Amino acid sequence: MNINKAKENLKEVGFLELDTPKDLDYIKEILKLKKEKNAVILAHYYQEPAIQDIADFVGDSLQLSYKANEVDADLIVFAGVHFMAETAKILNPDKKVVLPDLNAGCSLAESCEAKDLQAFKDKHPDHLVITYVNTSAEVKAISDLCCTSSNAKKIVESIPKDQPIIFAPDRNLGAWIKKETGRDMLIWDGACIVHEAFSIDKLIDVHKKNPKAKIIAHPESPDYILKASEYVGSTSGMINYVKNNPAQEFIVATEAGILHEMRKEAPKKIFIPAPVEDASCSCSECPYMKMNTMKKLYLCMKYELPAVQVPEDVRKKALIPIQRMLEISAR
Ligand code: 13P
Ligand code: SF4
Repeated sequence: MNINKAKENLKEVGFLELDTPKDLDYIKEILKLKKEKNAVILAHYYQEPAIQDIADFVGDSLQLSYKANEVDADLIVFAGVHFMAETAKILNPDKKVVLPDLNAGCSLAESCEAKDLQAFKDKHPDHLVITYVNTSAEVKAISDLCCTSSNAKKIVESIPKDQPIIFAPDRNLGAWIKKETGRDMLIWDGACIVHEAFSIDKLIDVHKKNPKAKIIAHPESPDYILKASEYVGSTSGMINYVKNNPAQEFIVATEAGILHEMRKEAPKKIFIPAPVEDASCSCSECPYMKMNTMKKLYLCMKYELPAVQVPEDVRKKALIPIQRMLEISAR
């Protein structure tokens, strides 16, 4: 079922108009539903703090894929964005997977439609296709391998050197991997709206005011931000870095939701969100990730809606590059 059809169905059953009593204790009710329904809540580090705190497991894209692969629950509640919940469904066709807000998309996934990738593949038939997990099931279904920011280097390096590669859809991650591995890849021109918003001039200013702070960045950030950074890595990589590095101050160039986990892991350290170009917007918050709220989490657990669906023929094909990724990544 495509997303638009699913949204129409939600409208039909009146789900979009549902409200909750004013004084409802969401924490208590969500914990109750979790027990009643044998549900597991998986949340990404970019979710709002209250959602991270109530989740059974909080992780980055790769950790969440592994977790989704091994959960023993009747209901998987995915507090993240659509492609993540879809990946969980691809791995668990017999389980119900729900996402608090079906509109929680991703600018990277939207930048790469399956028909366009297929046309590009047709022009380069000798190329192997590696796609970032931030893509739709249809795109995964025509990919040879998936990767996340945690394992992209390992995945690319697992391919024989003489094998040409198409890397999609993130141009920044692709360029960084190209530099790290020395592989000459054809890179799709997609980008994450959050990481593209960081300002290098303002970052330099913030660093001048906090000269002891180490700049760390997610590889979805543009080259000029990565060049100014002492560490580049996935969200879990960044969390481990701030935990283990002796420095006491860090300027963090990724979605601001990650600061919650960093402050939990290293409560005495200081974390400064990297500045964005337009100071009037909260651009370092992913508008898609932040569509999920405690209220929507509660409603989605109560009514088990919206459920993520993937047509079986697409699911079977999309499963192959995901499983290849999990297998190579675990080596
Ligand atoms: P990771 O979870 O792989 O670090 O990626 C961040 C991201 O943008 C997820 O949408
Ligand atoms: Fe997509 Fe960027 Fe949001 Fe991650 S932070 S879900 S890559 S738009």
